[in-house]
Amino acid sequence: MTDTAIISDAGFALHVTGGAGAGFSLTYFGPSCAAHGTEPLPVLPAGPDRPPGPRLLAMRGDGYDGISHIEAVRLEDGRAAHLIPVSIEQVSGTALHLHSADEAQGLGVTLEIRLGHGLLHMRTRVRNGGPAPVLLIRCAALLLPLPDWADEVISGYGAWAREGHTARRRLDAGFSGKASRLGRTGFDGPPGIVICAAGTTETVGRALGAQLAWSGSHRIHAERLRDGAVELCAEAIYEPGEILIGPDETFETPEALVVLSEQGLDGLRDVWHAHARRQVRPVTRPVHFNTWEARYFGFDEPGLIELAGQAARLGVERFVLDDGWFAGRRDDRTSLGDWTPDPDRFPNGLAPLIRAVNDLGMSFGLWVEPEMVSRQSHLYRARPDWVLAFPEEAAPTGRNQLVLDLSNPEVVDHLFGTLSGLLRPGGIDYLKWDCNRELYPASRNGRLRATAQVRGLYDLLDRLQAAFPELEIESCASGGGRIDFGILPRVMRFWASDATDAADRIRIQDSLSRYIPAEMIGSHVGPSPNPITARAFPMAFRGLVSMFGHMGVELDPAKLDAGDHATLTQAIALHKKLRPSLQAGTYKVLETGDASLHVSGLFRAGSGEFLLRVLRTAMSVYPLQARITVPGLPGGARYRVRELVLGEESGRELGILTAETLAWAGFQGDPRRPDHGRLFHFLPIR
Ligand code: DGJ
Repeated sequence: MTDTAIISDAGFALHVTGGAGAGFSLTYFGPSCAAHGTEPLPVLPAGPDRPPGPRLLAMRGDGYDGISHIEAVRLEDGRAAHLIPVSIEQVSGTALHLHSADEAQGLGVTLEIRLGHGLLHMRTRVRNGGPAPVLLIRCAALLLPLPDWADEVISGYGAWAREGHTARRRLDAGFSGKASRLGRTGFDGPPGIVICAAGTTETVGRALGAQLAWSGSHRIHAERLRDGAVELCAEAIYEPGEILIGPDETFETPEALVVLSEQGLDGLRDVWHAHARRQVRPVTRPVHFNTWEARYFGFDEPGLIELAGQAARLGVERFVLDDGWFAGRRDDRTSLGDWTPDPDRFPNGLAPLIRAVNDLGMSFGLWVEPEMVSRQSHLYRARPDWVLAFPEEAAPTGRNQLVLDLSNPEVVDHLFGTLSGLLRPGGIDYLKWDCNRELYPASRNGRLRATAQVRGLYDLLDRLQAAFPELEIESCASGGGRIDFGILPRVMRFWASDATDAADRIRIQDSLSRYIPAEMIGSHVGPSPNPITARAFPMAFRGLVSMFGHMGVELDPAKLDAGDHATLTQAIALHKKLRPSLQAGTYKVLETGDASLHVSGLFRAGSGEFLLRVLRTAMSVYPLQARITVPGLPGGARYRVRELVLGEESGRELGILTAETLAWAGFQGDPRRPDHGRLFHFLPIR
């Protein structure tokens, strides 16, 4: 029996045809459209007599040569699961469940598909109704046939302090994509990929973006099959033997999310941002001071109180005490796991410091790295059996530390108890949650458990969120190593990178802004020269780079000269003034044709006003000043333009410009000198 089911929402529709005995054909995914007939598939020379065609829940075995949606075997006899489509269940106007089964094995597999807010959500559920355990080898969250315009693949790459690079490749024969295999999201950016038509730009052309909402090992790839068809696969990587589904047990993949755009890459960005903003409660983001690049491990209580006073004078609103505050921690070789204040540094605990910070009008945040343990720690001495790799005594360390086994509920309970103990007295409203190494090996007694590790982490974060609903958590993993839509509902901010070099930050923040809204990207003014790159940048430039994000400061204020101190204070004041637009606006990167000229805008829905930031990182090739153009504004609109200048209360009036002038002729907004920037405010005249 063949059925057609259609779901639609927010201007998009997805049509599936199929049912018992016939494969589930994806007959349409795009802007809403009525049902249409299906075309017969041509039989290809040297191909199967019944062409498999573009399908969902695809399995090899009938001539289809792509990757199977699921690979599983029954343990007792090695029988491979073979799924036969059973039915399409129309759950609602926006949700479908595709059911398939291997009757002989008692295995039922359901692909859950849902449209909402312009996003396609997909997840696979596997139920073992048979009497014998089934070993899951692979299971895609999403395996999607792609349309013919899928010409190019865009994916991220990067490493520590080098996040935010982007590769764009033609999708010729074979695979293209990215993977993370060490149990953590990775420095190469959120686990996602963009597929687009050749020539798609920021604003023009078709594009499809996919993300796996998962903070562990994963693989996302597009593949052009032998017949030219293209498929997209997004899956968590399951380690050998890890996912054993017992009788009557159900296993569920993480969710994969897909966005379509006809307005180039910007169209994707807008939907991801709206999605991200729906995941967390709205909060005003206070300007941070973080102690790391100001003090590293060198501090005591009086010194921190003095530092807090200096931070408050800059206009900072939250003081975050980074690494080094807990028992015995003087460098990165010891003490992880012992989450009590160091008695020498804090003889009366953290309360006096928190009180001092609060008295200065700031809230208080604390750095933790709960998943980890140092060999030199009370926790490790008491429970050496709580680490991954146990009982291997020579287990490989990373940053001198081992990973606690979060698949063990006892460990999660212990961490919940310890963190609750820190939070319960009140005063800590923010945790910077770090994770400075990956999982190698992700096993205990030889059993791999990377998936259970991520689930244990989610469980811990969920329990904390339920117990402390006002708590805000930042996800940090040696910088940008864990930024994804799986952890997002559990955290409110991401530390984008340990690179605070202003020029590197432009790339890092921009590339992250393809998914994450600016206000969730921790963006700090660091020291100059920069501790990693040794490059020096003017304070005004550093301030402008940090201002379009969740602004913070991470330097020693006492080392600033009077000019830089004043400039930073002014940048913070300006950020606070613009914060409502910065934290709710639509962020866009404008194309310039000059690689050293970076233009981005924050557009406010409703009022029509917008901010434009122009940054220059090198001399222009030509002496004539570049004109800054702003396409896409509503026709006929007129704007009063002001240049916002640090330290000048009302800015400098530049006159009135029309949308057409801005789009076609542009205006003289080039900062001209390297490492300089300018900021403009455009107010529509009604
Ligand atoms: C890595 C983080 O990215 C830094 O910001 C800092 O918190 C250090 N860890 C502390 O060990």
